[in-house]
Amino acid sequence: MAEVEVLRDAAVLIDGARIAWVGSRSAAPPADQVTEVSGVILPGLIDCHTHAVFGAARLDDHERRALGEDYKAIAAAGGGILQSVRDVRARTESELEALTRSRLATLLAHGTTTIEVKSGYGLELDAELKQLRVIRRLATTQPATLVPTFLGAHEVPPEHRGDRAAYVRLLCEEMIPTVARGQLARCCDVFCEPGVFSAAEARAILTTAQRHGLALKLHADELEESGGAELAAELGALSADHLAAVSEAGVRALASSGTVAVLLPATMIFLGKRTQAPARRLLDAGAAVALATDFNPGTSPTVSLPLVMALGVSQLGLRHAEVLTAVTVNAAAALGLAGERGQLAAGFAADLVVAAVEDWREAAYWMGTNVVSAVWTGGSACPTSTVPVS
Ligand code: NIG
Ligand code: FE
Repeated sequence: MAEVEVLRDAAVLIDGARIAWVGSRSAAPPADQVTEVSGVILPGLIDCHTHAVFGAARLDDHERRALGEDYKAIAAAGGGILQSVRDVRARTESELEALTRSRLATLLAHGTTTIEVKSGYGLELDAELKQLRVIRRLATTQPATLVPTFLGAHEVPPEHRGDRAAYVRLLCEEMIPTVARGQLARCCDVFCEPGVFSAAEARAILTTAQRHGLALKLHADELEESGGAELAAELGALSADHLAAVSEAGVRALASSGTVAVLLPATMIFLGKRTQAPARRLLDAGAAVALATDFNPGTSPTVSLPLVMALGVSQLGLRHAEVLTAVTVNAAAALGLAGERGQLAAGFAADLVVAAVEDWREAAYWMGTNVVSAVWTGGSACPTSTVPVS
């Protein structure tokens, strides 16, 4: 992860939606059209974990935590995820689409060209499908590449609180088959956490999803250790995400699997926690580590992967090169896209970001300032209106 090849006075040749050639500018093949760029060109960043379809901000949760209540206590009192669920259920599809469209434009303006987007604020068939249709429509009408994930197991909805087994059955027998049939999601995710879904429930849901052809992801060991990392590795999931409370056995299981460890440092900061996932131990054990925003209204209202990269260096103890790999090559792997995205190399998608800086490491340095000055996706320049002038 620490090996990044840096070229100076370089050129990138784009043919259609793909990169055709990368190398020294003096050796560049002739091109029909030339765009001069000053600054640093990076592969388009890949945000492999977001909950970008939501309604309102959750300011009350934020204040209650500031005054000492914790995330789980707020959730148990009907705040937390369930507040966003009431909100999303009540909104029209076009209202959600408009909100999500502008949020995705802001992510793009911060250099993110591929975005995983989860459902999970519906928790009933119609409202989950509504979120997934919003993602599907936006995938074809805005410039970033979207990867949709079904997260019907984000929480047990209020109407099933008395009989959680009935909700797991509903997920397995009705919701997952419907989502898979409609090709509305590429992956299925579960919030596996004591008090939310147990490892046994997560196993039942994920193995059903796997049978229906969905790739797997898992919110694992976020607040308490519960065997989530081990389960993700055992099932061959694309990723195990969060991992702030992962056990030693979980670290070893991830290291000896192809499952990517997705770490979300902005979430821990926003929750006011003083600990972080053991990034260095995961990396040194041989696990592939990716970083993501976890963009959501409850625990991580940030659209900025560069901010997350800076946190990766200062909070997780990673090198600049390692955080760059974590939001490109490894984030692509966490979405099953390692062969086509996340590198400036011939054959890869022509998703490029320009950072108006001198040293590439500054992409993971200017905490909270947007240094991105231009973005291309699929070989086309993105409208400058989505790129704020910094
Ligand atoms: O990844 N952990 C569960 N899901 C989100 C939180 C979502 C919410 O609070 O709305 C997370 O942190
Ligand atoms: Fe999440």
